[in-house]
Amino acid sequence: MTEKILRVAQVNKYFGKFHALKNVSFDIYAGEIFGFLGPNGAGKSTMLRTMLGMLKADSGEIELDGTSMLNNPVTTHRRIAYVPGDVSLWPGFTGGEIIDLLLRMGGHQHTAKTDALITKFALDPTKKARAYSKGNRQKVALIAAFSADVDLYIFDEPTSGLDPLQELNFQAEVLALKAAGKAVLLSSHILAEVEKMVDRLAIIRQGEIIATGNLKDLQALASLNVQAQVQRDAQALAAFPGIMHFKQVNDSLQFAVQRTDLSAVTAELAKYGLADLKVAAPTLEELFITYYHDESETGHAQ
Ligand SMILES: Nc1ncnc2c1ncn2[C@@H]1O[C@H](COP(=O)(O)OP(=O)(O)OP(=O)(O)O)[C@@H](O)[C@H]1O
Ligand SMILES: [Mg+2]
Repeated sequence: MTEKILRVAQVNKYFGKFHALKNVSFDIYAGEIFGFLGPNGAGKSTMLRTMLGMLKADSGEIELDGTSMLNNPVTTHRRIAYVPGDVSLWPGFTGGEIIDLLLRMGGHQHTAKTDALITKFALDPTKKARAYSKGNRQKVALIAAFSADVDLYIFDEPTSGLDPLQELNFQAEVLALKAAGKAVLLSSHILAEVEKMVDRLAIIRQGEIIATGNLKDLQALASLNVQAQVQRDAQALAAFPGIMHFKQVNDSLQFAVQRTDLSAVTAELAKYGLADLKVAAPTLEELFITYYHDESETGHAQ
């Protein structure tokens, strides 16, 4: 995982006065699945469309394998496959014709792999696109993308319309790309998918990257949930440095604490006659809800 495939550096994008991307920077390496996460309207699709030249960056640099994508769109785009979240197809063509068209537009060929993918994803390629359901339209774009032999595969919420079986097919194909040393940029709201697939991720909120790392790094940065039982009134703990979101019901306490404050806090807790103690890292869902909502978490940006 040493070869840097994508470099996004200090990208800014405005829609009129609205600052949609604020100094966005991240890198992706060969053989890695990189997650791109954030709440609705955070700027994920805008970043991906800017990378692909569908939107113009106002400043910053985007490089594929050391070549500027902003200055060399034709050569660099041939080394990328992209599937948007809302796939729209030419209604009068069949799925099979569109797959071949998408491949040819990217400078690729229909191969035995294309046929295998059509079978695997159970797509009827003889139907006209206007007759396809949302999931089947997505399959057409996914099959074309997975058929292409490129360096970087970009998926913008690709599984939103797929049934669970097709989602598993998608995941297996992405893992096969990784095993073949390809780089994958995956934007997804499905946390189970992120947990299963992603090596590293960036979280974007209001156009700004607020965290980058692997899930373990992010979990280590997040505060711990503490549950305790004490024998004396512990209301004074609410004001103890490092204790956050303090709640007491009878002898049960609940609060959050940063890992770095845990020793001091447990020592203080002991003064109240500690009868029981549980310390837990946040679940993936809790972690993302914190990152998506909590302004104070921006201090962890790196
Ligand atoms: N063409 C446009 N003109 C003006 N504003 C836009 C345009 N495209 C996106 N925006 C705004 O930019 C912000 C980022 O939108 P974007 O589609 O990138 O979000 P997203 O992170 O992909 O969200 P979602 O998870 O809902 O797909 C939003 O506030 C959106 O309204
Ligand atoms: Mg989007």
